[in-house]
Formats: sequence, C-alpha cells, structure tokens
Amino acid sequence: MNYNRLFITVSLILLHAGALFAADPKDGKMLFQGRCASCHSVTKKITGPALMGVEDRHSEAWIISFVKGSQAMVKAGDKAALEVFNQNNQVVMPDHPDLNDDQIRDILAFVKEEAANAPKEDNAPFSRPGEKQPNLMPMTIYNFPFMIAYVMLIIIMILLLVFLVNIKSYERHIHKED
Ligand code: HEC
Repeated sequence: MNYNRLFITVSLILLHAGALFAADPKDGKMLFQGRCASCHSVTKKITGPALMGVEDRHSEAWIISFVKGSQAMVKAGDKAALEVFNQNNQVVMPDHPDLNDDQIRDILAFVKEEAANAPKEDNAPFSRPGEKQPNLMPMTIYNFPFMIAYVMLIIIMILLLVFLVNIKSYERHIHKED
C-alpha cells in the first residue's frame, strides 16, 4: 500500500474523530435554548445566575454533577452547591439526569462562546448592559419625541420671522415720521 495514501486516510479519520469528540457549541446552543434558557441567560441573572464565567467559578466535573443533580449535592453538603443555592433564594434547579457529560460540555462551550461575544461591560455605575444598543428610531410620525422637537422648531422659526418682520415695519414707521 502506498504510504502517502495511508497517511492521508489516517489523518482524515483522526480529524473527523476529533470533530466528533470536541465540545460543539452549536449542539450546546440547541440544548441551552431548549433546557436552560427559561431560567438562565449567559449575561444576565434571571431565575438562575448568569452562566458567564461559570467555568472559572467551578470545575467542569462540579458543573456536570450540578446540572445532573444539584439538590443531591446540596443535601450531601457540597459547600459550593450550598452557597449557590442560598445565594439564589433557595430556588431549586431541576435535575437533568438525562443529559450526558458531552452534552453538558457542549452547553458550556456555547456559554463560553456567547460570553466571548458579549459586549464588555464597563465599570460605569449606572450602565445597564442590556440597554447599551443605541436606540435608533426611524424618522416617522410615530417617533413622537422627534416630531415634537420638529414641530417646536418650526413654531420658533415662524415666531422669529414674525418678530423680524415686525421690527422692519416698526423701523419703517419711525423713518416715515421723520
Ligand atoms: C427552572 C429553572 C432552571 C433551569 C431550567 C435550569 N437552571 Fe440552572 N440554576 C437554576 C437556579 C435557581 C440556580 C441557582 C442554584 C440553585 O438554586 O440550586 C441554578 C444554578 C446553575 C448553575 C450554577 C451557577 C453558578 O454560578 O454557580 C449552573 C452551572 C447551571 N444552573 C446550569 C444549568 C444548565 C446547563 C441548565 C440546562 C441544562 C440549567 N441550569 C437549567 C435554575 C434553573
């Protein structure tokens, strides 16, 4: 057998195997939207905490175990699980025993990807990250603040015009007298 060909075949198989075993954020997105998004956002706290940076707060093994059965960990006295549970007003996160480790890794890959794409929060105390998108309204009559400003500007211009015309006629009046 031609060794070059063997090499290429083996590399291709390894490449595909690698793709098969690597965590896949696309699958993770589907799982996240179907199973987690009702309580979790990547960047905001909803019922559950924002999952951004969760891989820095806990080990992967801890997260996998927590997602499968958080209350079991709380009851077993796991310190970190108790802390998260108490910080979230002891709202119980439902168990997901049917998710396997790879599926949870996919979800984590998706969370990581989303977190990397999220706009960086600056430290301005009054900033609300959720409302940072510029509020671009089209200029239609439905844009009331714009319409009110526009109409007021026209009224001011008309008043100014009337005022200037009156000054002119007043001046003319004076000149006629002398
Ligand atoms: C019904 C609401 C709900 C759903 C659905 C849910 N969670 Fe949670 N999750 C929570 C709550 C509430 C907490 C806070 C901890 C607690 O109460 O035990 C939490 C905590 C967590 C934590 C710990 C976060 C931290 O900052 O320490 C992780 C990780 C997590 N959830 C992942 C998931 C994943 C992944 C899914 C989807 C497979 C999911 N959750 C689905 C409500 C939910």
